[in-house]
Amino acid sequence: MTLLFTDIEDGVRLWEADREAMAAASARHDRMVREQIEAAGGRVFRAVGEAHRAAFADPVAALSAAVAIQRAAGAERWASSLPVRVCMALHSGACAERDGDYVGPVVNRIARLLDIGHGGQVLVTAATYALLAGRLPGGIGLRDLGEQRLKDLGRAERVFQVTGPGLAERFGALRSLDDPALRHNLPSQATSFVGRTAELAELSALVSGGSRLITIAGPGGIGKSRLALQAAADALDGTGDGVWLAELAPVTEPELVAHTAAAALRVGEAPGRPMLGTLTDALSDRNLLLILDNAEQVLGAVAELADAIIRSCPRVCLLVTSREPLGIGGEHVFRVPGLAVPPAGLAAADQVAAFESVQLFAEHAAMHQRGFIVDDASAAAVAAICVRLDGIPLALELAAARLGSLSAAEINARLDQRFRLLTTGNRTAMPRHQTLRALIDWSYDLLSAPEQLVFDRLSVFAGGWTLDAAEAVASGGDVADWQVLDLLAALVSKSLVQAEGSHGSTRYRLLETVRHYAAERLARRAGPDPRDARVAHRDHYLSLVETAAPRLRGPEEVRWLDRIEAEFDNIRAALTFSIADPDGAEPGLRLAAGLRSFVFSRGHSGEVIEALGALLGRPDARQPTRSLALALVTNCKLLTHFDRTPDIPAMAQEAITIARGLADDGLAADALGALNWFSYLQGDLPGALAGADDAVALARAAGQPIRLVVALGHRAVFKAETGELDASLADYQEVLRLARASGDNYTLAVTLVNLGVDQVTAGEFPAAQAFLQDALKVADAHGYQHLSAAAEMNLGFAYLMNSDAARARRLLTGVLDRARATGETTWVHSAFLGLALAAGANADPAIAAALHGAADHQYEQAGQAFDAKESKMRSSEHARLRDALGEAGFDTAYSRGRALSQADAIALAVGTAQPEARPQHGPGPEPEPGPQQGPGPQQGPLSARERQIMALLAGGASNTRIAETLYVTPNTVRTHLDRIRDKTGARNRAELTRYALQAGIEPVVPSP
Ligand SMILES: Nc1ncnc2c1ncn2[C@@H]1O[C@H](COP(=O)(O)OP(=O)(O)OP(=O)(O)O)[C@@H](O)[C@H]1O
Ligand SMILES: [Mg+2]
Repeated sequence: MTLLFTDIEDGVRLWEADREAMAAASARHDRMVREQIEAAGGRVFRAVGEAHRAAFADPVAALSAAVAIQRAAGAERWASSLPVRVCMALHSGACAERDGDYVGPVVNRIARLLDIGHGGQVLVTAATYALLAGRLPGGIGLRDLGEQRLKDLGRAERVFQVTGPGLAERFGALRSLDDPALRHNLPSQATSFVGRTAELAELSALVSGGSRLITIAGPGGIGKSRLALQAAADALDGTGDGVWLAELAPVTEPELVAHTAAAALRVGEAPGRPMLGTLTDALSDRNLLLILDNAEQVLGAVAELADAIIRSCPRVCLLVTSREPLGIGGEHVFRVPGLAVPPAGLAAADQVAAFESVQLFAEHAAMHQRGFIVDDASAAAVAAICVRLDGIPLALELAAARLGSLSAAEINARLDQRFRLLTTGNRTAMPRHQTLRALIDWSYDLLSAPEQLVFDRLSVFAGGWTLDAAEAVASGGDVADWQVLDLLAALVSKSLVQAEGSHGSTRYRLLETVRHYAAERLARRAGPDPRDARVAHRDHYLSLVETAAPRLRGPEEVRWLDRIEAEFDNIRAALTFSIADPDGAEPGLRLAAGLRSFVFSRGHSGEVIEALGALLGRPDARQPTRSLALALVTNCKLLTHFDRTPDIPAMAQEAITIARGLADDGLAADALGALNWFSYLQGDLPGALAGADDAVALARAAGQPIRLVVALGHRAVFKAETGELDASLADYQEVLRLARASGDNYTLAVTLVNLGVDQVTAGEFPAAQAFLQDALKVADAHGYQHLSAAAEMNLGFAYLMNSDAARARRLLTGVLDRARATGETTWVHSAFLGLALAAGANADPAIAAALHGAADHQYEQAGQAFDAKESKMRSSEHARLRDALGEAGFDTAYSRGRALSQADAIALAVGTAQPEARPQHGPGPEPEPGPQQGPGPQQGPLSARERQIMALLAGGASNTRIAETLYVTPNTVRTHLDRIRDKTGARNRAELTRYALQAGIEPVVPSP
């Protein structure tokens, strides 16, 4: 059967615009549609408002009716003042009929197809296209619009547009999930969505009614995740900042909840700041829906995250799925029932088929037994199965998977037997989770021994896997690796494993309830099996990381970075296993060290640093091996960039000694480079320079361009700092040559930024502009967000220097826009200072003073000190503004600026009048692996985090208040304060406060 669905585009708006005209148009349209459909031999089986649904036995007749309606509608002189345009869709397949209406997946699918089209357009699915092949009426064609994802989240549909005389040709992009205007990361599902109309309507009403935290609660397998995804897809309308899924099932450590949400939202980690704060800042003015899926095993951390978001992100709505509610204020708990089941005794096929549970069962049944439909012969048994399984979707899927070998009646009889045993005949005594458990048991018991073994082993994966990973992890013992493919396929066909195709490859996963079950089974196995599976899992991902490591810079970097990112849940699980692996620290050290470039490009620094700390702290880690040296160097580099701890030189020295002992020049260059860079950042330029020649020589001797560019890049920065610009330029030029030759665009972009910064410092505007614009081009083309921001920021300062404040402001606000969109906040504080300076003399001095307040506040928030140049410019500008406004006037405006939210400060900066420009210098030269601030003379011995704590302490906050503000435990604050005392010699609060003031750390009063 072929279905034709039609509707008037924007009907509601037309009614609102002109009720009377629309009433006439609607009646006319109704007659027109019915006439054409009936003339072509079709039947309108349902009409609601302006929407019509018709069925045809002949697809050509359906197509002809659609074309005729479009032509007639196009030719009509509509009474309505707004244009009436009709959207149409055609789809073919078998449908269940109920009381003259049709239901089932084919109907659901065409309804979704109709949603993505435009007025005047006729869309056709591949199923109808195939039926029309060779039978198209004269002049009519079908244009391929490619695969489109519909909002049921099911498999992508190949869509065609009908073309021909009298039909409109050009339309905007289809409003499918592939439309870039719809911002989301919702995954496709292998099956179509069934029923839940009432639940979806209720959820949609809750969201539009202003509920900001909705927890979809219920037992395992009841359909919480699927319902949340569907509700989110339905909410996606192209307005706001979209809908985002954070998958928490693979997360077991509470600290990683905020990281996982941030990764889903593409918010990057800010060095030295707790992720929660970075995340809530990034979301503070965004309008989006965030799904936190499968929160049950990290409930406390999700509650904390949800609470913080609800408090500080007024336009973010949270949809949580969990077996239990979060139990916090403002939470609206939505309990998911099972799918509707037929009442006892109902046996008429068309009535039974109308229930949601039966529809789900039937859809899955048809996947296991071709042509399965609920007919009079099977209806009673299917109804009984659905009732017996409480309408639990996962249980229904597992039962339907047995249809390959049993009939519905046989399945029902076997369920009966099993359940009678469990409940001694009294089925009402059985809670839902037990129903499901019994069903999974049943599926499991029917597996062959090798299938069971593979299934159990698969539980060690976190967040899905590929076939080659399964072969590596699930083989062994009685299972050869070539058998894994077949065993996996058997598990998929039994609905125990989910398979999803994406970009031509298949990814597998276990639903959470099933994974839990498999893990339990694995743990119960005697012998080495449980451990072997984990070792094999770790070794597989270790090998992936080590294969990827040298490819993370260069022409293939995106592919490899994406691969590591796709497997990060597994890599994290492998790291966790390695930290406690009794067999030794070596594999863990290698795994963590291999992630170095990945972390600089894609984040996760906090957890990798933590893992490295734990691994290096193991007594058995300290063997003088290459792995230890690499892990030490990685740790130095990450800590230098993200934390700046003082232990770095000792670690670097240890690595240098090991490398020299092994006569490994490349490794020695790497380790020495880490030490040199740290010395430079600490202000020890002579020390840095002394090591730089050595590092270059070692890297050359090793013949490793990847290390040579780093060593040369460092030396160029150091030389520029001493004023040896020619020597610096020579090194940079060699780096550019090497980077271009090897396709290392990252190094190319870093080097161009650094060259630009040097030219800004030298006051050479045209050269600065040329380098920075090139840098911006390369960084934008390759998605290096922090390098793009660095280039924009320095280019902004270059324009300030060249008296072009308008352009400077555009670039500097660009940095802020980018930060908002990507969470890349490395340069936000500098951009604020630039904007405050750009406000200059022409703007209202009170606004300029307020912007300085905002800029200072941003430096504190970032835990950054002003470098020498910045601090000079800032002081002279402050003094000038104090003259202009008077002390009291300046203080008032400045304090007002400090209190502004980031969004308000941006609005103020962007809204200022055309300022007069003055020459400004960019911040200090830039390091490898990415630009960061030069050494600040007032930086002192404290880390960024310690300075944050000192600022709050000087602002009068108690330890508890500091802990709350920074989202850490009071214990952590105490540990930090101990370290600060050791470093500063200050003994009590008063002395600490005095030290903070002397060190130029401005007090921060925590917001209430
Ligand atoms: N309305 C539905 N239409 C189609 N399939 C569904 C529907 N609801 C659930 N399913 C399917 O049932 C299975 C279990 O659903 P889901 O994973 O959403 O359950 P859950 O309640 O989130 O379970 P858990 O507590 O284990 O996370 C999945 O395969 C899912 O695709
Ligand atoms: Mg779930």
